[in-house]
Amino acid sequence: MKNTLILHINDTSIDEALLSQAADAINQNKTVILPTETVYGLGANALNSEAVEKIFIAKGRPQDNPLIVHVSNMNMLEKCVKSIPEDALSLIHAFWPGPLTLILEKSDLIPHNVSAGLNTVGVRMPDHPIALKLIDLANTPIAAPSANRSGKPSPTTAEHVISDMQGRVDVIIAADHSRIGLESTVLDMTHNPPMILRPGGVTLSQLQMLIPEITIDPQVHHSVDSPRSPGMKYTHYAPQAEMTMVRGDHSKVIKKITHLMDEHKHLNCAIICAEEHIQDYPNQNCLSLGSLSNPAFMASQLFTILRKCDELQLDYVITEAFAEEEMGLALMNRLKKAVGYKILDV
Ligand code: TXA
Ligand code: MG
Repeated sequence: MKNTLILHINDTSIDEALLSQAADAINQNKTVILPTETVYGLGANALNSEAVEKIFIAKGRPQDNPLIVHVSNMNMLEKCVKSIPEDALSLIHAFWPGPLTLILEKSDLIPHNVSAGLNTVGVRMPDHPIALKLIDLANTPIAAPSANRSGKPSPTTAEHVISDMQGRVDVIIAADHSRIGLESTVLDMTHNPPMILRPGGVTLSQLQMLIPEITIDPQVHHSVDSPRSPGMKYTHYAPQAEMTMVRGDHSKVIKKITHLMDEHKHLNCAIICAEEHIQDYPNQNCLSLGSLSNPAFMASQLFTILRKCDELQLDYVITEAFAEEEMGLALMNRLKKAVGYKILDV
C-alpha cells in the first residue's frame, strides 16, 4: 500500500503551491491522478518508461493497451509525434483543448510501453485548468488512462478515484465532477480516411464539418473479435448486476421492461431510464440519467449511475436505449458495453 497524498484543489481558484506538489511528483516519476474535462486520469511522466510502468501496475491494466498522452502546448505535441499532418492541425485548431484524442505516428521520445509496442501514439490537450496547469508546471507530457481499476467505469468524481485508487498511487488531485463525464473521442489519423475508434465529447458531425470523409469503426456499434483500438476488446464498465437493454417503440419498451421486472421481482432490480419515463414504471426502482432534452447531461451521469448499481448491490438492471446521435452515440456505446451487448429489440 502506498501512502497516497490527497490534494483538494478548486477548479476555479487553483492553489499553485499545492499543485506544484503534484508536478514535483510527476518529475520524480511518481503517479498522480488528475482531473480532466472528460474523466479523471491516472498520470505519470510520458517520457519515462519506469514512470509509465507504474500506471499499468496501479490500474491492473493489460500491457497491450496503449495510453493517451496529454500535452498543454504545441511544442510538447511536436516532441511526441513524428509529424503533424495538415488535417490533424486543422482539427487541433478547432477542438483543442478538448475531448479529442488524435492517433498519430509516435516519435522516438515516447517509450514503447506508452504505445504498447505500436508505432502510433494517442495525444490530446485536455480542456481543464488543473490538468493544463499541472502539465505546464511539470513541463513534460503526461500519459494517463482513465483512473479506474481495470473493468470499472471511468471515474468522474473525486470520491470515485479515492475509492478505486487510494493506496495505489502517490498523489490524487481531488477536484470537481468531470464536466463531460465520458472519455474523449479517439480519432485514428493514420487511417485513410481518418476513423473514429471511440465516440466521445467531440461528435462525428462536428468532425465531419472539417473532414467530411471521417468514418466510424464498426466496433463502435457492435462487439467485434479483433478491434482496431486495443482498449475496445476488454470488458468495460460492467456492474456486478446482470444487465439488459430494451430498445424499440416506447410503448412496447414500457411493456417489455415492466414484464421483465415482474419476472425478476425476487431479485434486487432497477431500471436505468430518462427522467421523463420514471412515471411509466410505477412502483419500480428507477435510476434516472436526466432529461432527454439534455443528452450531454445524460452522458455525464452514466458512470455515476453504473457505479450506483454496485453501491446498491443490484442483481438485475434493465436500461432503456437512447437515440444514437450527437452525444447519444458515445452514451449508447458505453451503455452497450455495460450490458455486454445484450439488447432486446421490441
Ligand atoms: O478522455 C480520455 O480519453 C481519458 C482522459 C484521462 O484523458 N483517457 C482515457 O484513456 O480514456 P484510456 O486509456 O482509458 O482509453 C484510451 C483508449 C483505449 O481504448 C486505447 O486502446 C485507445 O484509446 N488508444 C490509445 N492509444 C492508441 C493507439 N496508439 N492506437 C489505437 N488506440 C489507442
Ligand atoms: Mg479507460
